[in-house]
Amino acid sequence: MQLRRRGFLGAALAAGAARPLLAHASVPGLNELAAAKGMRFGSCVAWSVAGADRGAFANPAYARLLERDCGILVPENELKWQWTRPGAARFDFSRFDPMLAYAEAQGMAMRGHTLLWHKSSFFPRWLNEHDFGPRPRDAAERMLIGHIRTVCGRYGKRIFSYDVVNETIDEKTGEPRETSLSRAFGDPVGLVELAFRTAREAAPHAELVYNDYMSWELGNAKHRAGVLRLLEGFRKRGVPVDALGVQSHIGIAGEGSVARLVAQQQGPWRAFLDAVTGMGYRLVITEFDVNDARLPTDAHARDRIVADYAAAYLDVMFDYPQLRDLLVWGMNDRYGWLNGFRPRADGTFQRATPYDGDFRAKPLYRAIADAFERAAPRPT
Ligand code: XIL
Repeated sequence: MQLRRRGFLGAALAAGAARPLLAHASVPGLNELAAAKGMRFGSCVAWSVAGADRGAFANPAYARLLERDCGILVPENELKWQWTRPGAARFDFSRFDPMLAYAEAQGMAMRGHTLLWHKSSFFPRWLNEHDFGPRPRDAAERMLIGHIRTVCGRYGKRIFSYDVVNETIDEKTGEPRETSLSRAFGDPVGLVELAFRTAREAAPHAELVYNDYMSWELGNAKHRAGVLRLLEGFRKRGVPVDALGVQSHIGIAGEGSVARLVAQQQGPWRAFLDAVTGMGYRLVITEFDVNDARLPTDAHARDRIVADYAAAYLDVMFDYPQLRDLLVWGMNDRYGWLNGFRPRADGTFQRATPYDGDFRAKPLYRAIADAFERAAPRPT
């Protein structure tokens, strides 16, 4: 499977080699273009041993991309409970610590992802099976508060922004999800609110974000409505939430042209963003990439459609002065999570990120650069 994938990619790259695209040392990187508008660009990054073929800072080829283009980093997995909590009474920060040290050495800011990924399938197994004892509410409260205080206390101002809660709205129903933790606590929304109140106390300097994947594609109406209800509740009850993290795993689902899709999707999406910003929330694009699983194999054709679709999306998003930070979920197709999560039927890499599998900038890179150039300067 892997070999076949590389084979296709090699052919696609050979075909594309004649078209020069940025980026090299003399061209400003994406974060520089962003900075000119009072914005920032960043990416997720993984941990690995030195020199591993991974999307990690310890892979020099990947680090070069980060250092050229990024002003912000976020750990792809290493701050999640699955990584930091080997057991109920144990913490392990041995992966994340060197990632933060790297970011600081490079002068890059760090986002914290995430204090609570409130979805059972991404809980560590021990947490799904945990016995909360005779006073489950107190035990759940202690566990959540203890987790957040430990992480925020350890890193202090070194982390400027947290996805305090990730994905707590079920996209199918629009209702808050239940987990072992929320069942023990007895109230899924109350648990989420406790997370934010604890984070504000433990990291008063930090931007506190509710992060989710409600998107602008058709079929997301229920999810968006559920997120809006959650955000309204936060405001009603004075819960300290500063921003909505719009993950932005966008994708081309329909058959129609990009222009037609954009025309269909844009109205309801803007209405959603208007409602969010109308309540005083800022916006962050936290995990941008473009799922191309439904697009043809031909790399040129795919890259063009992906870039056009991304450009239209970013123009809408950048219209909102409440948005300053854009992070992509990976710089390079070679390591993209979509290759595992939503693999293409033809076995080629998803071309979802700014650089191809050979570390060359693609039309998507150009589309992001151009979107920053078109963006209005953010108010100072
Ligand atoms: C993904 C990582 O990229 C994968 O490596 C991991 O196996 C699962 O999680 N939404 C999120 C991110 O908030 O944390 C997810 O990251 C992608 C979807």
